Amino acid sequence: MGLLRTLKTKRFMLSAIVAIGFAAQSVNAEPVVVESPGKVLKVAFELKDGAPTYSVLRKGDAVINSSKMGFKLKSGESLDSGFQIATSKVTSADETWTQPWGEQKDIRDHHNQLRIDLEGTGDSSKKLTITFRVFDDGVGFRYEIPEQGDAKQIEIMDELTEFAFPADHRCWWIPAFESNRYEYRYTDSPLSKATVVHTPVTFKTKAGLYISLHEAALTDFSSMALRRTGGTTFEADLYPWADGVKSRGALPMTSPWRTIQVNESPGGLIENYLILNLNEPNKLGDVSWIKPGKYVGIWWEMHLNVSSWHSGEKHGATTENTKRYIDFAAKHGFDGVLVEGWNIGWDDDWMNGEGKFSFTKPYPDYDLEGLAAYAKEKGVSLIGHHETGCGVENYDKQIDEAFALCKKLGIRAVKSGYVGFGQGINRTGADGKTYKEWHHGQWMVQHYRRVVEASAKHHVMLDVHEPIKDTGIRRTYPNMMTREGANGQEYNAWGGEKSNLPDHTTIIPFTRMLAGPMDFTPGIFDVLFEKEQPNDRVRTTIAKQLALYVVLYSPLHMAADLPKNYEAKPEPFQFIKDVVTDWETTKVLNGEIGDYITTARKDRNSDDWFIGSITDENGRTVEADLSFLDKDRKYTAQIYRDGDDADWDKNPYSIVIEEKPVDSNTKLTLKLGPGGGAAIRITQAVK
Ligand code: NOJ
Ligand code: CA
Repeated sequence: MGLLRTLKTKRFMLSAIVAIGFAAQSVNAEPVVVESPGKVLKVAFELKDGAPTYSVLRKGDAVINSSKMGFKLKSGESLDSGFQIATSKVTSADETWTQPWGEQKDIRDHHNQLRIDLEGTGDSSKKLTITFRVFDDGVGFRYEIPEQGDAKQIEIMDELTEFAFPADHRCWWIPAFESNRYEYRYTDSPLSKATVVHTPVTFKTKAGLYISLHEAALTDFSSMALRRTGGTTFEADLYPWADGVKSRGALPMTSPWRTIQVNESPGGLIENYLILNLNEPNKLGDVSWIKPGKYVGIWWEMHLNVSSWHSGEKHGATTENTKRYIDFAAKHGFDGVLVEGWNIGWDDDWMNGEGKFSFTKPYPDYDLEGLAAYAKEKGVSLIGHHETGCGVENYDKQIDEAFALCKKLGIRAVKSGYVGFGQGINRTGADGKTYKEWHHGQWMVQHYRRVVEASAKHHVMLDVHEPIKDTGIRRTYPNMMTREGANGQEYNAWGGEKSNLPDHTTIIPFTRMLAGPMDFTPGIFDVLFEKEQPNDRVRTTIAKQLALYVVLYSPLHMAADLPKNYEAKPEPFQFIKDVVTDWETTKVLNGEIGDYITTARKDRNSDDWFIGSITDENGRTVEADLSFLDKDRKYTAQIYRDGDDADWDKNPYSIVIEEKPVDSNTKLTLKLGPGGGAAIRITQAVK
């Protein structure tokens, strides 16, 4: 059986990359067309008076109208006109690959590729290669800039890629080039009201098509924002270096993929693996040391102002307190204990980017080595914390030593942080002067990549806050587990007008999280925290907090609340203990952006299924069709649902926990209160 499977897989892989056409041509008037394998999407590339353009059709209807492509360079040359086609080639691939961990174990990469080599007309030596990959549910394209005559280096002053929409679609977006990175509430508006936006950005057409624009494999380039240039057209707007150059490097240079996901349902966008398919395979080899899991930590208590990161009477990261968390984690089966504020550097204004943190020296009241040993003895692992405060050069100097220390102490994961604002990150230039860089510029992209590589070298998993946006590099570096990059739970502790509204978690699965996992830190049971911060609160029911573990995918999920709040509610806490973080498969059963979503996922290591269903501020009844269950089996559903009177505003603690026999014919009716949810574990019934 095993051998047969191996042989079959091999045969499949061998036939995966087959050239299905080749055409060398210099005829520029005719569009060069490539269709997706199932003929759903079609891309037409066309040189218009020597200027490269592309358009995308879905079943004959325009998704992207004729849109410009190319770059402006510092040399004064432009790679956006004066071209002819040297060669073009269509190939096809159909390959299934396996994620070492993830929301979906096996992923099919089935696409047709069109690769076009452009050369300058006349005696111009300029060259540009554009590659399109066309899937049934999306398109990716990227640029390769080969050596240009004698030029070995390049400085890009502007990327001219457009996304010209045929109509003023509804759009969910957050603003780019603002001070607070990706941490904004989403705006739901016609796209004509958007100015400059981060990706992923999601659209809904009048015909009910869902489209998301983003990028894949951002490893050495500036992040791409999208600026509306008038009407319904966006243009790439790369985050610049301090000197105004948008991206620089040695030739040949390859851009990230520009991606367009297109689905008939919003859930289809979530079950769409285009971004991962466009990333390079695992570069780390044996990754058996990488393990998804759940963690608790000394964290929420700081956000509630019960304890402090800095030293002194309120210091949270003390040996004694950490031992309490380790005991709690061990008792309830958590894998890790995050400890923030353990290291020297929190006592000054740590957000000013000066970089005074040490990533190896603990505060005197924190016995790092003793605690690491204590955790190990209890079968859990400490999770390190590297808040840089955007002192990035200070961190760069220490990363190797810092991750080596983790390895030595058995610290298997590190949460990092880059609190700092706007174009405010100090970089020392070759001339010794200080330059101010953006979080999302190329220099920071290179920094984050160095951190991923250094942590991988020492077998440490990463959870990055204030990150570079996810573009799927977890496929290449599977130790890059999860990240923030949106308003997380912490905004609820801080309160005020930035705190999350009940619809927030019904938007991010269809926007930010199309990029990849998020460390949202769900699981707040004391949603009113009246003792600690009476003026703020979490705007959900507690059943919805449970549902978030399934709806919001993260391979490392936190149980964010204080241990005493879990101990006070052991019955709902059982769900957090039972839910897993590594999945065989993911299915979005229903949903509408900003309104509700129901997601079902199957455990990778057992026959259990988990379902999470959440709603915005409106109560509603949804149906979960369980036809995905095995036909010949009987199951039990453990249901954690809103009580009939539950309401995020008036009655957030009302929860009902009940069991029901179910099978593949069951259609579960779930009544969700306003701002509520339901979390379900489905296990096989004992025979
Ligand atoms: C912001 C992070 O998102 C949060 O989780 C962390 O506690 C603080 N920075 C301090 O590093
Ligand atoms: Ca943050």
